[in-house]
Amino acid sequence: MQNNTPVNADSPHRHISFTAHYTGYIWFQEGISHAALASNKGRWLAKLVSPLERWAENVIGDSMRTTLRQRHGLIDRQLDLFLAEHPDAQVLEIATGLSPRGWRYRQKYPNLVYVEADLPDMAAAKRQALSQIETPAPRIEAVDLFGEGFQHLLDSFDKKKPLVIISEGLVNYFTKDMLNDLWTRLATGLKQFSIGVYLTDLYPEPVTRRLAKLIWNSSKILKVMSRSAFAFHFVSPTEVIAAMKTAGFNQSVIFQPSDKKDTPENAKSQDTAEHLGDLVWVIESRV
Ligand SMILES: C[S@@+](CC[C@H](N)C(=O)[O-])C[C@H]1O[C@@H](n2cnc3c(N)ncnc32)[C@H](O)[C@@H]1O
Repeated sequence: MQNNTPVNADSPHRHISFTAHYTGYIWFQEGISHAALASNKGRWLAKLVSPLERWAENVIGDSMRTTLRQRHGLIDRQLDLFLAEHPDAQVLEIATGLSPRGWRYRQKYPNLVYVEADLPDMAAAKRQALSQIETPAPRIEAVDLFGEGFQHLLDSFDKKKPLVIISEGLVNYFTKDMLNDLWTRLATGLKQFSIGVYLTDLYPEPVTRRLAKLIWNSSKILKVMSRSAFAFHFVSPTEVIAAMKTAGFNQSVIFQPSDKKDTPENAKSQDTAEHLGDLVWVIESRV
């Protein structure tokens, strides 16, 4: 599959890839990754933004790195809950960058099929990094999510089993129309499986925080550097649920770091209509 998947080496989204070096280095600093996944570029970027991060933690009470911690932990929690219920589930992490999740989950669940995908250059970097620490070599696929290769990738999974697709640090880089396109592709793909679940983080509009304007302005720097459409598209959980429905997901739950939806029972009983002020949310959607 790795060698014959059609890929778009000149993807218009390739400039987003550098951000994965930054997050990859933060995962390492957080103690949840391996030195092999911490690149020099990531170290340099982390050093560059560290004073701003410290300032934001003191003044706003949150920073990019605190949101990384929150989103990563919430996605792990929901994935663990799903795997406990469906031990035969397969996982596809798209836009995986240098995230250690695949490496960690393949160790934690030795029989788990956990495939990772990203644009060609990033997939090659990840494959190279993991070749130093993981045997047998895991499947790291080169796929542009907006290209034909994505359906080929889905066809390589067992459709009789559940599939969980994970994206982290991806969805804010696109316009709302592109996001609808992406989510529609994911929902359409997931419908081919016995159970289809999509787990993603999302940065909502930072409306209830002090210095929301500053966060918007900082995001514009990211938008320019990644040559992407980086933006905050949603203000309320209800809007996200509606967008997911339009894309083809029947059921969505929004997890906010301040809520208490830490068990499936609690998740059902809590109202999702209110923005609790957190900078990042995690969404679990089913087809
Ligand atoms: C901010 S990084 C996040 C990486 C990782 N998920 C993490 O949280 O550390 C965004 C990732 O999205 C990938 N990406 C962007 N556009 C993509 C596309 N069209 N297809 C596949 N991957 C894409 C980039 O290459 C990059 O690795």
